[in-house]
Amino acid sequence: MKALILVGGFGTRLRPLTLSVPKPLVDFANKPMILHQIEALKAIGVDEVVLAINYQPEVMLSFLKAFETKIGIKITCSQETEPMGTAGPLALARDKLIDGSGEPFFVLNSDVISEYPLKQMVDFHAKHGGEASIMVTKVDEPSKYGVVILDEETGKVERFVEKPKIFVGNKINAGIYLLNASVLDRIELRPTSIEKEVFPKIAQDKKLFAMVLPGFWMDIGQPRDYISGLRLYLDSLRRNTSDKLANGLNIVGNVIVDDTAQIGEGCLIGPDVAIGPGCVVEAGVRLSRCTIMRGVRIKKHACVSGSIIGWHSTVGQWARVENMTILGEDVHVSDEVYSNGGVVLPHKEIKSSILKPEIVM
Ligand code: GDD
Ligand code: MG
Repeated sequence: MKALILVGGFGTRLRPLTLSVPKPLVDFANKPMILHQIEALKAIGVDEVVLAINYQPEVMLSFLKAFETKIGIKITCSQETEPMGTAGPLALARDKLIDGSGEPFFVLNSDVISEYPLKQMVDFHAKHGGEASIMVTKVDEPSKYGVVILDEETGKVERFVEKPKIFVGNKINAGIYLLNASVLDRIELRPTSIEKEVFPKIAQDKKLFAMVLPGFWMDIGQPRDYISGLRLYLDSLRRNTSDKLANGLNIVGNVIVDDTAQIGEGCLIGPDVAIGPGCVVEAGVRLSRCTIMRGVRIKKHACVSGSIIGWHSTVGQWARVENMTILGEDVHVSDEVYSNGGVVLPHKEIKSSILKPEIVM
């Protein structure tokens, strides 16, 4: 079985992290977002993943080639010379997706995180006999997503409305599709949107079906959602594989700590924290609702909450970093500095406090 992951787009909403790597390579819960997806695809028997890329293909491919043998899956690239939207890339990769087996193929948005119930989706798709299956999930704020109106009993989609201005429903497109090869006949080789131009037509032909996604879901392409997504992800680890979570007197709630990270005396860590490989968290540090990426040092008695600390940055002693502060790669926050929602570009040194949310260039 094959899969295509849509990895184009510039990831502007996740800057400054995406100034260092393409969005799918930004770490989430201690590994690049896209690896969560590739591992889930491998687990249900997908043997080739096609990356639909329009931006920094070399970086992506050289990184992922290392995982090809480790995970045991073929990873290839289909490169656009201009952004082809969310459907055009499927037409471009047509020859890679059709292998004569007659099997449907998966398509994933690269920035969605869930328990990936892909096996259930394959069963659902086989049962309804339509042309395409999409996963849907309920959200409180549907206007920033594709809204799907379906027959609750059969799953048949009646309407698909991308980013509706007025309320039409609260079940939204989760960005995980299983498509028959015939869907490719509906897509022209030009920049085009699967949400605006393809799904509404398949729905009209009554051949689009939606499965309500069991478990959690989040589009982690924006800092606030990234931070909430980590909480949901760790909750799900607690329910399913709690041995991956850290234990100890200094741990509160759900926390993951890479084996190679060092944690000093008298720290208090959690809830909802991920500490990546090679991090050094010195004595007396307080961390909550945050991601500390690979190679970061948090110095004595610093306090970090509701924030993302990019690769190889340092937070000085007694510093306080909070309220959706996002530090890019290799940022250095001096001792005793306060950051209230600072968004700091890579390789900067922060010597004075950031008192209100702002971008520091
Ligand atoms: N190859 C390629 N080329 N990929 C692209 C392009 C392109 O020109 N444009 C966007 N993508 C990829 C993005 O990298 C992402 O993985 C996916 O297509 C969706 O684009 P986003 O920019 O993240 O869209 P969105 O989050 O506003 O909305 C989409 O996702 C929602 C769920 O998170 C839509 O599919 C909505 O219907 C959906 O609800
Ligand atoms: Mg998105």
